[in-house]
Amino acid sequence: MSETMLKKNDEVECEIERLGVNGEGVASYNGKIVFIPFACVGERVLAHVIFDKKDYFVAKVVKVLRESKDRVQAPCPYFGKCGGCDVQHLNYISQLALKKIIVETALNKYAKINAKVNDVVASEKQYRYRNKFSFPVGCDVDGNIKIGMFKKNSHEIIEIEDCLLQSERAKKIISIFKNFMISQNVSAYNESTKKGIVKHIVVREHAESFILTVVVTDEKFNNFEPLITQLNNEFNSFGIIKNVNKLNNNVIFGKEDYFIYGLSELRIDEFNLNYSVNNRSFLQVNDYIKYKIYEKIIDSIKDHRYIIDAYSGAGLLSAILATHAENVYGIEIVPEATKNADELKIKNELNNLTNICGDCAKVLPELANKLKSDFSLILDPPRKGVSEEVLGAVLNSEPSQIIYLSCNPATLARDLNSLKEKYEIEYIQPYDMFPQTANVETLVCLNIKDQNGRR
Ligand SMILES: C[S@@+](CC[C@H](N)C(=O)[O-])C[C@H]1O[C@@H](n2cnc3c(N)ncnc32)[C@H](O)[C@@H]1O
Repeated sequence: MSETMLKKNDEVECEIERLGVNGEGVASYNGKIVFIPFACVGERVLAHVIFDKKDYFVAKVVKVLRESKDRVQAPCPYFGKCGGCDVQHLNYISQLALKKIIVETALNKYAKINAKVNDVVASEKQYRYRNKFSFPVGCDVDGNIKIGMFKKNSHEIIEIEDCLLQSERAKKIISIFKNFMISQNVSAYNESTKKGIVKHIVVREHAESFILTVVVTDEKFNNFEPLITQLNNEFNSFGIIKNVNKLNNNVIFGKEDYFIYGLSELRIDEFNLNYSVNNRSFLQVNDYIKYKIYEKIIDSIKDHRYIIDAYSGAGLLSAILATHAENVYGIEIVPEATKNADELKIKNELNNLTNICGDCAKVLPELANKLKSDFSLILDPPRKGVSEEVLGAVLNSEPSQIIYLSCNPATLARDLNSLKEKYEIEYIQPYDMFPQTANVETLVCLNIKDQNGRR
């Protein structure tokens, strides 16, 4: 085949040169990039072109012609079909190396930062590490119930009996729930007809307990007794919450929660704190990595008089910090999360902790002005990163130290690009919060530059 004529549905032999940000193999063909998911660096593959875009191709591996030593047999039968994992075909050392490169590449590309990136801190467990799952519920054309994960970039449900990122217990819960729906003739929601009852099941686990949230379209649905009986036959400590979501959108939870049975909260004892989480509270999904990150943040804090924890969620980190510092302020926009944070504060008598419900863009400048730059700042924003207003407020108030925790290397790099004029990097430490996926969590510690009497 002539090199210039490659097009959709052609087959082509490619050499994989590197991995992309989603863990996919990247080759080049006549100067144009070819993205080939599930291929490893150094491999030669026969690939089938599925998209022919202006600047790149996307192709599927037909056959690995020369295999990399980094390739392993993916243990999950759904790998490559469901949208969950990206890199089960890579050995774990290569997954960690990939994540370090993803962080280095983003920092270099978006911020021209070439500072040393530490080796990625590995997860204790490479499978079955998640403490929460959320599975859509639907049915096939014959009406058979399907519980599983969406296929990548689609709303087609791939039925899954056992997700290897979840606990063994999750497998049993899924099976019991499916039996319950079949035996009780409970319908699954159908996105096309907009009919049917159950849309999602969400499970949060801790130690021996779990809370199952059943997301339904009809608040009148109350036939939970058979489910309670079946779960009681298997488990000692659990709760059931009904959540009602009538909207046909991509948001899992609706506004209304109804307590049905057993536990409404999970009690957790860690970091010398006693706290409870409900079915909605934000918590990091990998307990071991969460511990490692929070430990590192505590060790890194230099000024123990004032700490601002911006984007503080349900307040766990703020509370931990309050056991190590004189005054801590948490800022969080979601009222329920701030309520959780206040409960945590009261339960643990943390009188030096102030939880503020509001937008960081508004609250941070006021607070920073009051504290006159004598504070350490934690930034733990969502994937979209820190807003321009917040960055402006940070640069104006010049906290002596910033500790930035990010789940998105691209927005982290963009924000560091703004901060680098006034701050220097002490360390960049990535963590493997999500083994088998291409996601990486990164902690960056920054100190204000002390030049020409700036401060
Ligand atoms: C990645 S979570 C951080 C949670 C927390 N730091 C922890 O470790 O558990 C980001 C949090 O930022 C909150 N958030 C998003 N935009 C915000 C804003 N403009 N102002 C304040 N909080 C915001 C979200 O509600 C979410 O709880």
